[in-house]
Amino acid sequence: MAKKKIGVAIIGSGSIATHRHAPEYAVNPNVEIVAFVDRFPERAEKLAKKYGAKSFSKYEDVLALKGVEAVSVCTPNAFHAPISIAALKAGKHTLCEKPMATSDKEAKDMIAASEKAGKYLMIGHNQRLMSAHVKAKQLIQDGVIGKVITFRTSFQHPGPEGWSIEGPTGWFFDKKQAFVGSMGDLGVHKADLIRWLIGEEFVEAASMVEHLDKPMGDVDDNAVCILRSASGAIGTLVASWTHYSSEDNTTIIYGNKGILKLGTDSRFGVVVELASGEKQFYEVGKMQSNDEGGQSDSGVINLFISSILNNTPPEISGEEGRRALAVILACLKSSQTKQFAKVEI
Ligand SMILES: NC(=O)c1ccc[n+]([C@@H]2O[C@H](COP(=O)([O-])OP(=O)(O)OC[C@H]3O[C@@H](n4cnc5c(N)ncnc54)[C@H](O)[C@@H]3O)[C@@H](O)[C@H]2O)c1
Repeated sequence: MAKKKIGVAIIGSGSIATHRHAPEYAVNPNVEIVAFVDRFPERAEKLAKKYGAKSFSKYEDVLALKGVEAVSVCTPNAFHAPISIAALKAGKHTLCEKPMATSDKEAKDMIAASEKAGKYLMIGHNQRLMSAHVKAKQLIQDGVIGKVITFRTSFQHPGPEGWSIEGPTGWFFDKKQAFVGSMGDLGVHKADLIRWLIGEEFVEAASMVEHLDKPMGDVDDNAVCILRSASGAIGTLVASWTHYSSEDNTTIIYGNKGILKLGTDSRFGVVVELASGEKQFYEVGKMQSNDEGGQSDSGVINLFISSILNNTPPEISGEEGRRALAVILACLKSSQTKQFAKVEI
């Protein structure tokens, strides 16, 4: 007898649902997409029609469906925690987009709901799964660049108005729904990436998180941050929605034996420059970007589904998401107080 497929509902039927969650679930042989939800019914209907699923305008209705074993939460940030907690309480494994929540309390409540229900909570921090970053992690672990001393990481693009289904008047620019702008949209990706790459938590942040240029909205469109890790490594994290020409998705890690450049070369995703003068080039595939429809091969969905199938907690857990969020919260606090802020984890 064929193995039963995992029934999945996607809550929020906008761009990340369209370009990542739906197509990646659709090609996973262990999944059946049962339902799409959106507060604008036509958005859910469009995807439901494409993937042979049902459409709903209220997430509560799909949480009541027995055939739904897992959900993706692809809504604006402010709804991540309430919807994820409701889904976990209803006994559904939950993959929530980033940033996972709008406060540490919400993040802790999500984790507690997951533990209480005995259902998995995973956060969509896909940067860790990019081939250049996987290679970089291995090189750092192998000691190729020695002890990490400093870093700089940057995630910049022209802004979500060209990406979101809601365009320039959408939720991304509305603090009530987004809670944070470029820092939460892009900065949280890099906060998660660096802590994972160097295998350390951040302890302290100094930051300017500002609304500099977008004519619309009340959230930051630029963030420039300095971070200090537990072992004393320091570095900068830049997130921007005003990189009007293209996208910058690069990271450089400086160790006491050499330098690791990620995404800086169009052909070689990873370049190692050793103190000896030797250079190593690794052709590991391009950085995924919003520019080139590169969002449908992230690996996030397969990881979530294999975690359910193998009954193994997801690597990119709620706690991991919470720790990445803590960096963002410290940066926001530093910017508001004009003081260094502790990363509270
Ligand atoms: N991991 C990544 O690389 C990545 C990339 C882009 C976006 N995201 C995240 O995905 C989430 C969604 O972003 P997007 O780009 O798809 O936005 P989007 O504006 O394209 O779509 C969001 C959709 O959610 C719907 N929605 C809002 N409230 C809802 C509710 N209560 N119930 C059901 N549907 C609701 C909206 O109507 C809209 O259709 C955000 O948290 C964003 O940060 C992650």
